[in-house]
Amino acid sequence: MKRIGILTSGGDAAGMNAAIRAVVRTAIYHGIEVEGILRGYAGLIYGEIRELNVSSVGDIIHRGGTILLTARSTEFMEPDGFNQAVKMLKRRNIDGLVVIGGDGSLRGASKLHGQGIRVVGIPATIDNDIPCTDYAIGFDTAVNTVIDAINKLRDTATSHERIFLVEVMGRDSGQIALNAGIAGGAESILIPEFEPNFDEVSERILRGRDRGKLHSIIIVAEGVGGAMEVSREIKLRTGLDTRVTILGHIQRGGTPTAFDRMLASRMGAKAVELLLEGKSNQMVGMKNNTIIECDIDWALAQSKEIDEEVYRLANILAI
Ligand code: F6P
Repeated sequence: MKRIGILTSGGDAAGMNAAIRAVVRTAIYHGIEVEGILRGYAGLIYGEIRELNVSSVGDIIHRGGTILLTARSTEFMEPDGFNQAVKMLKRRNIDGLVVIGGDGSLRGASKLHGQGIRVVGIPATIDNDIPCTDYAIGFDTAVNTVIDAINKLRDTATSHERIFLVEVMGRDSGQIALNAGIAGGAESILIPEFEPNFDEVSERILRGRDRGKLHSIIIVAEGVGGAMEVSREIKLRTGLDTRVTILGHIQRGGTPTAFDRMLASRMGAKAVELLLEGKSNQMVGMKNNTIIECDIDWALAQSKEIDEEVYRLANILAI
C-alpha cells in the first residue's frame, strides 16, 4: 500500500479534524502518502483531491467542522456518479480509502468495497446511532453543548417560573436527548424510540409545582415531531407558561471535547492499521474503552437500541 485517500461525508461532527489528523500522521509514520478528498463523495466524483502532509493537519485537533469539507451527495447514489468515483480512485492510484461519517457514509464505503476498493470506516455523527461502537465521534461534544444550553435556560426558566421545551437533534435517534436530559436534570425526555405520553409529562410538571418547583425542562428529540407541537399539548394540559428553544446546528459545531479528541485519535490510527493489515469493509468502533473493528455490512444490519437501563434511570431521577 503506497497511497490512501480520506474523506468526510454527511453531517459534520466535532472531532472529525482530530480523526483526519490521526489518519494522516499514522499513515505518514508508516511511509504511506495521503490524498485528502474534498466535499465527501461529491468531491471524489469530480477529482477534488489534494495531498495532505504532516503540516496540513497541524493546528486542527481543537477545531470543529472538517477541513476536508463535507456533503450529502445524491449523485454518488446514482450509477453514473458512483462509477465515476470508482474510476477516480483507480486513476489517482489510491489503494485504500478511509471514510469518516455516519451510516449513509458507511453505506457508500461498502458499495465501493463491492467494486474492489479497500475501505475502512470511522463512525462520526452527533446522533450516535451506529452499531458496533459505544460512541461515534462528535456525540460527546454535542451532548456537552446541549447541557451548556440547559444550564442557561434553567436560570431564566426559574426566574420566570416557566416550562422550557428544548428541542435537540436526532431525527431517528434519542441518544443526545437521553444523555443530555439526564446529565442536565430534565423533568421529561421525549425520544423517537418511545411513544410520547403528554398526560404523564404534564402530571409530572404539576407534581413538581405542588412541591414548590419553579421551573421545568423538557427535552424533545427532533424525531418526536417538533417541540412547538409538544409545547401546545403541555400548555393545554397544565395551563402553564411555556417557551420553546430549538438548539439546531449549534450542536454540530464547536471545539471537540477531550473525549472526542481521544476517540478520534485512536480510531484514526486504527483505521490506517487495518488498511495496512490488508483488511477492507471494516469499521472501527470502541466498546468498553477498547478500540475494535467490525464488518461494515454486519454493523449496518444491526440497530443501535436505546439502553433500557439508562431510559429507566431518566424516569426514576425525574420522579
Ligand atoms: O445526522 C446528523 C444530523 O445533525 C441529525 O441529527 C439532523 O437531523 C441532521 O443531521 C440535520 O441535517 P442537515 O444538516 O442536513 O440539516
